[in-house]
Amino acid sequence: MRETPRPQDLLVWYDRHARALPWRVPPRARVPGGRPDPYRVWLSEIMLQQTTVAAVKPYFEAFTTRWPTVSDLAAARDEDVMAAWAGLGYYARARNLLKCARAVVADHGGVFPDTLDGLLSLPGVGPYTAGAVAAIAFDLPATVVDGNVERVMARVHDEHTPLPQAKPILTEMAAALTPADRPGDYAQAVMDLGATICTPRNPACGLCPWRGACAAWDAGTAVELPKKAPK
Ligand code: ADE
Repeated sequence: MRETPRPQDLLVWYDRHARALPWRVPPRARVPGGRPDPYRVWLSEIMLQQTTVAAVKPYFEAFTTRWPTVSDLAAARDEDVMAAWAGLGYYARARNLLKCARAVVADHGGVFPDTLDGLLSLPGVGPYTAGAVAAIAFDLPATVVDGNVERVMARVHDEHTPLPQAKPILTEMAAALTPADRPGDYAQAVMDLGATICTPRNPACGLCPWRGACAAWDAGTAVELPKKAPK
């Protein structure tokens, strides 16, 4: 009998295996009730759109050293920010970054809004980024779905509907699993599972905390999923 996937099992795995990333505060290093800085979470999520973790790391370090707070970034010269962004690509992100930093200062007193709707009202912040910041920075039970999460959901539920048609189905599955306990760590745990274990090719199912709950493991279909509609 297959188990149902338990968020708690993933959190236990995350506590041992979370990737050390510069925008994270690992659970064991956190003071009680302490959260990562919303500015750092937001900046990392904007940079990570369409760009790999490895490529983002040095840029994240450079930005946060030069502009340690959202107010510092808001006061920066456009040319300096564009120059610091050079190499990351998708330059509309850098322009939106500045617009958003300035909106946080002008409209919110330099403090990031702590609700999903408040975050969604910021320029350049769509449902993915708002959900990620709400969960990671404010520990709200927002559902965060990126490509990693889609792959994990498709496999755990052995869902064969092809992308992009499968998107709402996989989002619904992700929402149903999001726990009330530690949703921010849970969001990052699913991302890490997708990036390090439940990888597109050669998934390391032997190391997976959800193997006993994985329908694709039982069916032997993990590497085929998620299916993609023919172009
Ligand atoms: N990709 C997008 N957001 C991420 C995060 N917070 N941690 C790791 N990978 C990510």
